[in-house]
Amino acid sequence: MQRRMTRREVMGAGVLLAGGVCGCRVAENSGAPRATCCDTPELEPASVTFGPGGLTIDLLKAPSLRAVGGAAYFVHPDKSPQLIVVHAGKHRYCVLSRLCTHGGQVVAYNHRRGVLQCCNYNHSIFDLDGRVWKGPAEKPLISYPVVLVEDALVVYL
Ligand code: FES
Repeated sequence: MQRRMTRREVMGAGVLLAGGVCGCRVAENSGAPRATCCDTPELEPASVTFGPGGLTIDLLKAPSLRAVGGAAYFVHPDKSPQLIVVHAGKHRYCVLSRLCTHGGQVVAYNHRRGVLQCCNYNHSIFDLDGRVWKGPAEKPLISYPVVLVEDALVVYL
């Protein structure tokens, strides 16, 4: 559950931002509200199985990915990395690291713009291959090879 910032915290963050300190790090521990674009749902856990070289996503058990434009994130408590999966087009799926390379905050899929967008103040933007469209991030998101096999996505980690 998110906590609302107090007026004092908002003013403090504003002073830090005006002083040139990265707002992403300010927000990291403050519980500050995130951007409204960050509504990518969690991938249905029952759809995921792990194998030796990666994971398999059963699309029949993943309604969040069913339609083109669908996206979902996946976090396993014991395994890394955190992933975001996007159904980008007919027979096209993209699987990328979910953590912004600027400050480690999560990214979400912005369907309207067709990009991955950091959920933090500075809003780095990445294309679906992980390339930086807009900083402050300078490094791309890691993009993982993925193969569609009938009704399953095989992701090589
Ligand atoms: S964490 Fe700073 S832009 Fe993403």
